[in-house]
Amino acid sequence: MEKRFIGNSGLEATVYALGTMPLGGGSGWGQEDEQQGIETIHAALDLGINILDTAESYNNGRAEEIVGKALEGRRDKVIIATKISPQNTEPATLRAHCEASLKRLRTDYIDLYQVHWPIRDHSVADALATMEQLQTEGKIRAIGVSNHGVQDLQEVLATGAPIVSNQMHYNLLSRAIEAEIVPLCQQHGIDIIAYMPLLQGLLVGLYDRPEQVPPFRARTRHFKPERSEASRHGQPGAEEEVFAALRQIRAIADDLGVPMVGVALAWVAAKPFICNVLVGSRKPQQLVANIQAALEAEKVFTPDTVAELDRVTEEVRLKLGNNPDYWQSGEASRSR
Ligand SMILES: NC(=O)c1ccc[n+]([C@@H]2O[C@H](COP(=O)([O-])OP(=O)(O)OC[C@H]3O[C@@H](n4cnc5c(N)ncnc54)[C@H](OP(=O)(O)O)[C@@H]3O)[C@@H](O)[C@H]2O)c1
Repeated sequence: MEKRFIGNSGLEATVYALGTMPLGGGSGWGQEDEQQGIETIHAALDLGINILDTAESYNNGRAEEIVGKALEGRRDKVIIATKISPQNTEPATLRAHCEASLKRLRTDYIDLYQVHWPIRDHSVADALATMEQLQTEGKIRAIGVSNHGVQDLQEVLATGAPIVSNQMHYNLLSRAIEAEIVPLCQQHGIDIIAYMPLLQGLLVGLYDRPEQVPPFRARTRHFKPERSEASRHGQPGAEEEVFAALRQIRAIADDLGVPMVGVALAWVAAKPFICNVLVGSRKPQQLVANIQAALEAEKVFTPDTVAELDRVTEEVRLKLGNNPDYWQSGEASRSR
């Protein structure tokens, strides 16, 4: 599997990475079997994947604990990317939260430590200075951010901290970052780590109509607010454009003779500003099938395929605009 460096961190990670958000269960995910989580992580490593993404907030630390358990004896072969929640980034708290993550992960260093969402309530400079100190001490190897818009990135860059990556929501139907965030990141050597490459199953081709999408997965700006009681964006959605695009993506996949899931993953990986694609899966067989489909799609992709996929998803891109927060909008957007 192809590897790419994450910014100038020296960390060389496989393009496809395993996302561990559902591990440990929790709201919307239902009951999660720990053993199945461990088996999914082992399946990822057996496929050659060398990077796992997690966060202290995923199911109150359970996901990190499962990652730690699964990596016993294999830690040195894996890049661990985890995240700290912004409300925990005041210097003293940040240090304590980093130590707690290290404990749950059963390790003495984190490869990539990311600020999960932009910091709003206290000093960005103090938070990043503390992260740099942790880096000097060897507790973390590189510093990243996540969900940072242009203004957020500019604030972070002004501190002079060596940011190597920005983890963002990016897939065929969520292309907000392309207009402004990607150019700024490229200018500063910051790589994009893409999350939700399948829009939580939509790009697998599971649904033909918006009514079929489970409410927990219909909270994003793609859908009308009435699809989910938990919807918070207050926008009209782009259902017509989304389902028209899905039909065209499926037709392209059929022409290529590869599963749609592979096309969706390979399209993200084909973008030059992407260093990793966080494939979300909590079932070993599903992960193996998805990665195989992606590698199969890569073999038949040409620059024209990518351009055609860009074209058929352009209406959705235009309709949803440049706000990278797909759950909240306007003043409430958590990215600026
Ligand atoms: N930085 C952030 O704020 C942020 C936010 C979200 C996610 N992330 C990261 O990105 C990772 C990936 O996100 P995601 O899990 O939402 O990614 P995703 O790849 O868009 O969606 C994964 C989900 O799609 C479904 N799926 C995948 N392949 C399938 C198949 N072949 N057939 C049927 N269903 C299939 C599965 O649902 P079921 O499990 O129900 O089968 C799976 O859990 C996360 O684990 C996390 O590490 C980061």
